[in-house]
Amino acid sequence: MTKLKLRGVSKAYGATQALSHGELEIEAGEVHVLIGANGSGKSTLCKIVAGSVRPDAGEVLLDDSPVTISGPRAAQALGIGIFYQELSLAEHRSVAENILMPALPSRGGLFVDRQALHATATRYIDLFGPVAGDDLAPETPLGALRADQRQLVEIMKALASEAPVLIFDEPTSALDRAQVDRFFEILRDLKTEGRSIVFISHRMDEIFAIGDRVTVIRDGETVGTARIRDVTPQKVIRMMVGEQEELALPQQASSPTAGKAEIALQVEDLSGPAFSHVSFDVRRGEILGLGGLHGQGQSALLRALFGAAPTAAGSVSLAGKAFRPGSPRDAIAHGLAYVSGDRGRDGVISGRPILENVTPIHALRNRLVLARPARLAEKAVPALKALNTKFAGLSHSIGSLSGGNQQKVVIARWLMDRPDVLLLDDPTKGIDLSAKADLFALIRTLAEEGMAIVLYSSEDAELLNNADRILVFNGGSVTRELRDADRTRYNLYHAAYEAA
Ligand SMILES: Nc1ncnc2c1ncn2[C@@H]1O[C@H](COP(=O)(O)OP(=O)(O)OP(=O)(O)O)[C@@H](O)[C@H]1O
Ligand SMILES: [Mg+2]
Repeated sequence: MTKLKLRGVSKAYGATQALSHGELEIEAGEVHVLIGANGSGKSTLCKIVAGSVRPDAGEVLLDDSPVTISGPRAAQALGIGIFYQELSLAEHRSVAENILMPALPSRGGLFVDRQALHATATRYIDLFGPVAGDDLAPETPLGALRADQRQLVEIMKALASEAPVLIFDEPTSALDRAQVDRFFEILRDLKTEGRSIVFISHRMDEIFAIGDRVTVIRDGETVGTARIRDVTPQKVIRMMVGEQEELALPQQASSPTAGKAEIALQVEDLSGPAFSHVSFDVRRGEILGLGGLHGQGQSALLRALFGAAPTAAGSVSLAGKAFRPGSPRDAIAHGLAYVSGDRGRDGVISGRPILENVTPIHALRNRLVLARPARLAEKAVPALKALNTKFAGLSHSIGSLSGGNQQKVVIARWLMDRPDVLLLDDPTKGIDLSAKADLFALIRTLAEEGMAIVLYSSEDAELLNNADRILVFNGGSVTRELRDADRTRYNLYHAAYEAA
């Protein structure tokens, strides 16, 4: 009897087909690994099983009987517990309340039984012993915890469901080695109790340490299942990439003069909170790609170079002159520019007109405290046109534009002043395919005109198609440089997924 089975499950979010053909079979007493690139549909599949997303089509069977999972409570009642990748914790509640939510123990069905709450929470906290940290206690408010401790609390919450089927969607991304080891011991105990466990991680070493079987998902489709002992990391990566794609990669040669142009940015042995000992240089005319899984130090490095985050050691020079990144204002004055795909945090000034959104950098750089709108418009319009930005008028609110067009406004800001070095931090998040094509064509033109460009992208295809060279980040350091014919999807995955 198969504990949990998914057949032909699909889900679209608007125009995005997040999952087109999800198939999965989980036995009792196994740890089943689900692996696939960013955006391949893993979380969507998990959420469907956990009842927080309704599928468009397909079937879910529990113990060989079809079930309808109408919501999270229904999933819980059916014996399915989940660890959510983005966590599902309440900031203002205690650790104990978070662990036992949504079913807090009560007395007479009315008042929360504090004693029972405390005792039960303590049981799950004690499972982790010293690796949880002394300050992780039942009464601790969640808001006081570190990222790794929050992840532990989300694990405890999943465990407290005591469900026969447990899904862990990237439960280890913030944990240290000792915490992961302890968590794996707990998972092994659950296995011997006969529970069924789905485990997602991007770390190959973890997958091989804990998995019994692995299912690979690619572009919303499950492409195969294998027993862990029958595969190698290379084989798994091949399944993730797909054989045909490996051969069909567009190879774009870097410009012949790139090797001779002046070095615009040089970074030597630079370390900061999330990256260490990073060294590279970028010449005028070159697009240097930063690759690897999310959160391996790429964004932190770019933000540090722009003076928006601290550095601890190492040196930076611009066109041969030493530069200490102190503040964004300082970086801008030295010819650096930074574009983030995170519009909410770094990009648009919401509720304000397009004209205001396109001008702040220009004003800052030229020390224009009171900028004259007519003069600014003269500069803004060509910059917006260069990106084919669709807007009705400069006085319209930025919020009236689509996400992609808002992002173009953010980028246009920088084009008005032609920086020497353009730092792009996952710049195309949320922009559609044709806007992406416009953007990359423009980036190539800017490089040809002599700009040096550093591009971090969470989409591998974007890097492979646009970067002249790729530095792969793993655990905060550059572990591999891919040049020329080495720039293949296989090499990129291999470097990104191997243990740091
Ligand atoms: N709520 C949503 N609205 C719109 N699109 C979404 C939503 N959730 C996911 N998507 C899109 O669906 C696709 C699959 O996303 P999903 O979160 O399932 O990927 P994943 O395999 O879990 O990736 P990761 O490894 O980055 O966690 C992606 O293209 C994503 O952008
Ligand atoms: Mg996910």
